[in-house]
Amino acid sequence: MTNSQRDQTLDQPADRPMLSVRDLTVAFPTAKATNEVVHHLSFDLPPGGALGIVGESGSGKSMTSLAIMNLLPPGATRSGSIVFRDTELTALREPAMRTVRGSRIAMIFQDPLSCLNPYYTVGDQIAEAYRAHRHGVSRRQAHRVAIESMERVHIRDAARRVNYYPHQFSGGMRQRVMIAMALSMEPELIIADEPTTALDVTVQAQILGLLTEIRENTGAGLILITHDLAVVSETTDQIIVMRHGDLVESGPVEQIFSEPRADYTRMLLDAVPRIDDAIDDMRTLPSSAAHETPTEGARL
Ligand SMILES: Nc1ncnc2c1ncn2[C@@H]1O[C@H](COP(=O)(O)OP(=O)(O)OP(=O)(O)O)[C@@H](O)[C@H]1O
Ligand SMILES: [Mg+2]
Repeated sequence: MTNSQRDQTLDQPADRPMLSVRDLTVAFPTAKATNEVVHHLSFDLPPGGALGIVGESGSGKSMTSLAIMNLLPPGATRSGSIVFRDTELTALREPAMRTVRGSRIAMIFQDPLSCLNPYYTVGDQIAEAYRAHRHGVSRRQAHRVAIESMERVHIRDAARRVNYYPHQFSGGMRQRVMIAMALSMEPELIIADEPTTALDVTVQAQILGLLTEIRENTGAGLILITHDLAVVSETTDQIIVMRHGDLVESGPVEQIFSEPRADYTRMLLDAVPRIDDAIDDMRTLPSSAAHETPTEGARL
């Protein structure tokens, strides 16, 4: 059953947000002062929607996503409301939150290596993560799921590569492995925090294309966090722009790109090369230089 079908069976109106954040404030209180790093942030994500959160370093993007997942660093406090489907996440205790995390909301981070254990094969790691959230699943079934998930993110020859260790993959392929791990849980919402920042621009475009494909195939919602407006232009339908913990402006992608209201957004727009330009550049490269692009995994 796809997530959109699930919505219908639950009789939820299609326009009711799947995630509703209200007045979210994240702070690091100290003896002397309370350092607020996210101030009264509010936004909605419609079912199956894709929202980009954009802003310079330190603007509070990661703290926002970690607050949603209740994974803030020690010492941080959060207030406000975070409603996911019908559940107020801020009211959940840790065991219930752990069920949401991973199995209903999945996170993908910038650096897959920091999330993967170098001593276990990627297949074992996908399978174990899967078994941790699905009771009564045998190792054999979970191994099957690992292969299927790797196939879904277009890792060719997945039945063999499922036995590879993380270091045997390129950066782009490792990010595919992380996306496969997230996908194996069939999440309703994927939060990706700078998933392509460490990748070169052609691999970046492939991973963004993959996220879009997954969204279309599964109906999952997406929150894509990036400092780079070019990244969200093709991948999301709505954008919120943050600076110093404040929402600077929000709206449909086309509107933000064609009629940015805030000077800060205009500055971000001026600062970035368009990803389409980068793709055009790639197309004009001599074939030897472009060779790796469609088959990035062939490096293996
Ligand atoms: N453990 C901490 N203690 C105190 N302040 C922190 C802590 N972690 C983060 N901050 C502060 O919170 C603010 C927001 O950080 P956040 O990581 O959300 O930024 P970001 O928008 O994700 O930036 P980047 O693009 O660099 O990832 C920053 O000013 C940062 O210094
Ligand atoms: Mg961050």
